[in-house]
Amino acid sequence: MKRKIIDMLKSASNRFISGEEIADKLSVTRTSIWKNIQTLKKLGYDIESRGKLGYKLNQVADILLPAAVQSGLNTKIIAGENRMVHKFSVDSTNKLAKKLAYEGAADGTVIVAEEQTGGKGRLERNFFSPKGKSILFSLILRPKCLPKDAPKFTLMAAVAVANAMTRFNLPAQIKWPNDLMFDGRKVVGILTEMSAQIEKVNYIIVGIGINVNIAPEDFPPDIKKIAASLAEMNGGEISRVDFFRAVLEEFDKLYIDVNAEGFEKIFMQWRKFNITLGKNIKVLSADTGESFNGVAVDIDSDGALVVDTEKGRQTLYAGDVSIRNC
Ligand code: BTN
Repeated sequence: MKRKIIDMLKSASNRFISGEEIADKLSVTRTSIWKNIQTLKKLGYDIESRGKLGYKLNQVADILLPAAVQSGLNTKIIAGENRMVHKFSVDSTNKLAKKLAYEGAADGTVIVAEEQTGGKGRLERNFFSPKGKSILFSLILRPKCLPKDAPKFTLMAAVAVANAMTRFNLPAQIKWPNDLMFDGRKVVGILTEMSAQIEKVNYIIVGIGINVNIAPEDFPPDIKKIAASLAEMNGGEISRVDFFRAVLEEFDKLYIDVNAEGFEKIFMQWRKFNITLGKNIKVLSADTGESFNGVAVDIDSDGALVVDTEKGRQTLYAGDVSIRNC
């Protein structure tokens, strides 16, 4: 209902629409419209009410509410009707997504939060998740694939965000496997988790954290040197609602494509955005805990990184790489 009210107010583009007109179109009472408008106002929507003239939307609040994000959203699977959960605060959207997936949430359900009090990063790290400045969300996916295919969804997520950045004229650079970087600093982090049996994936959770409007001085001292935001890249703030919508649309397109045709196209797109291949790198392997140097050669058909080292060719399935300037 709230989404439909926002849709109508938006399409009236700066004119008043009467409560009666909205109520008639949505086949509900005027009181119900009034109540919903009061809730939207409390959530931060600047809606002007004027006697008989009715309501006018002055400004769309940049809150990632389903009503706002789904208005004009062009997706088939991701974040559709009843497939979006919004929280003002949560410990970790990945944690909540796992719980909801276990309880049977549908393929394509999105859990998004304004802030996380215990945002999880890769390799047991934390993810900085301040209120109202980032896009912090997790997708519940139920693809028909083998557990060994799960890491490929991580590369897919990175490509989806890169495509969204391209739509906003922002240069996207992916560091293997899935960090989006600016000037050597991380702008977007992705954490993929899975529940599976030997031959079957139950569900995959793709958690994405995007630093959108965080000013450099607002990062904690320990991550200031390694983190950046879209606003910094853009030279000004970006609408979180608009950028989130773009990411969901790009993800939806790729997800449909992968379900029909596999990952080959994703790998091609990933290679286009990557900044790792051909570089001297330092590797921290998540499999062995070992650290070694080498040259990144390619990604293989599993999305694993192929690295030439002094000891010969090695394949890295999970871990962290840093690019060495030598
Ligand atoms: C990394 O770069 O280390 C991965 C960071 C992933 C952070 C996102 S924010 C939304 C989702 N919920 C979490 O707790 N983590 C992921």
